[in-house]
Amino acid sequence: MHGTLPNTDLKEDIRDYWSRRSETFDLAFGHRIPQGPEFDAWAAAIRERLGPEPRRVLELACGTGEVTRLLLSLGHEVTALDFSEAMLAVARKKHADAKGLRFLLADAENPMEPDESYDAIVCRHLVWTLTTPAQAFAEWYRMLKPGGTLLFFDGDWAAPTPLGRLASRAIAVLDRLVGTDPHYDGAMSDRHANIMARLPFGDGLTVDRVLPLLETAGFRDMTIGSHASIAKAQRRTADLRNRLRTLLYRRFILCCRKPA
Ligand SMILES: C[S@@+](CC[C@H](N)C(=O)[O-])C[C@H]1O[C@@H](n2cnc3c(N)ncnc32)[C@H](O)[C@@H]1O
Repeated sequence: MHGTLPNTDLKEDIRDYWSRRSETFDLAFGHRIPQGPEFDAWAAAIRERLGPEPRRVLELACGTGEVTRLLLSLGHEVTALDFSEAMLAVARKKHADAKGLRFLLADAENPMEPDESYDAIVCRHLVWTLTTPAQAFAEWYRMLKPGGTLLFFDGDWAAPTPLGRLASRAIAVLDRLVGTDPHYDGAMSDRHANIMARLPFGDGLTVDRVLPLLETAGFRDMTIGSHASIAKAQRRTADLRNRLRTLLYRRFILCCRKPA
């Protein structure tokens, strides 16, 4: 029945879900990016794709501002957008003294920023939750300057990989031994599952599904990168349960360009 609800209701549910998680989001593994090997691995992945020069970057769905911190550390001028005021409040507090940063309360699927105004659009963990991906990609294309870059980090959160299924069983054993982690994504899992069931990529965001949509929007020079170096860095500092969590899902780094 939920599938028949219009997008506005779905979007309100998504916003409400994230707003409720805003205060504890940074406590959940995989969201906060600690200084050290993990921060360096994320920064390297971005630098490799956006280049060493400072760029005008639109960060979509900035959440608590973790990717924002990376982008600023690389010298970029950042507009960090989210549609949850609660998430933005956490990010604003975190980056109160930051230079070259503007926050924007807006819908990532329709940000209403001017044509050809950004060198790059970056987002992590947003594309899987888009309600109208084809329209969103067309908007993102419109806002990029010719030659501009779209870079996103995402994954297929609908089903664990075969290795992930084993890791998931081991995590369940650890949960029984030491108690569940109230902040991990499984928290609020009924609401999460309810939203997933109504999303276009709710049954899995894969490269094969997303590439044709990007191509239709006009993007070219697609490259698919591996998340392995980031996961490896995470395992260097994570506890056992979180090390296992790095194995759960198929993640990817997608980069493409608007033709010059
Ligand atoms: C999984 S969190 C990721 C946050 C951040 N990108 C990160 O990686 O730490 C998802 C974020 O996307 C935001 N979001 C989801 N759909 C959105 C939309 N249509 N417009 C703006 N923000 C959106 C939520 O408010 C939430 O902050």
